[in-house]
Amino acid sequence: MAHASLTVFDALPAKERWFCRTRLKLAPLEAVAAQAVGQDILDVGCGHGVLAALLLHGHPERRVVGIDPDVRKIDWANESVGKQMNAEFRAVTIEALAAERPAAFDCVIIADVLCLIARDTWAPFLDAARRLLRPGGRLLVKDAENDGSWRAVKALWQERLMVHVLRRTVSTGGIGFATREELAGYVTRAGFAVDDITSYARGYTAPHVLLIAHLPP
Ligand SMILES: C[S@@+](CC[C@H](N)C(=O)[O-])C[C@H]1O[C@@H](n2cnc3c(N)ncnc32)[C@H](O)[C@@H]1O
Repeated sequence: MAHASLTVFDALPAKERWFCRTRLKLAPLEAVAAQAVGQDILDVGCGHGVLAALLLHGHPERRVVGIDPDVRKIDWANESVGKQMNAEFRAVTIEALAAERPAAFDCVIIADVLCLIARDTWAPFLDAARRLLRPGGRLLVKDAENDGSWRAVKALWQERLMVHVLRRTVSTGGIGFATREELAGYVTRAGFAVDDITSYARGYTAPHVLLIAHLPP
């Protein structure tokens, strides 16, 4: 039985609806959404808005902004979950949004995006996430971890397929997973305090990991 939040995608073409349903089956986005806090939430690299739909489901008090460089996906998001008054989707970079709306969010979520951007851009990317958060705000980073497992190898080839062959996913400079220690190091150096790192690999074919951090008040 599909999650009720997915009904907002009913108006999209069958291929895109299937993509959204599959995304929710393959990644623990419900677990990510469950860790979101506050009223103003930013979904960085939002894609079609599957996570944004989950965040808004049953939470009329929330305002969710989704950004992504892929204009096609922002269009799909605007034609579905973006029809809600408290959702906004834009094709803008995280750096541009940080300049435009500093300290505007209680929670910034980066789900399966860092693995698609060049490693030497992680520091400025996370620095922009820090500038977007209010003091005490929460950062959630969901990614796949390089734990040396068959899951990591399979997930890497899956991302390569999505980016280079099927061209369904935009990569901005690289495809690769960090170890959880490397991930925590980048987040800490960007000025956050790491609260928790939990594996969500069990029950999935990718080595999903969720890092929770906060910006010191
Ligand atoms: C695997 S999808 C994840 C989509 C969504 N976060 C989710 O969990 O369903 C990765 C997304 O990251 C986006 N992306 C790639 N480079 C990015 C960048 N530099 N900044 C923000 N998003 C980026 C892609 O366009 C794509 O929509």
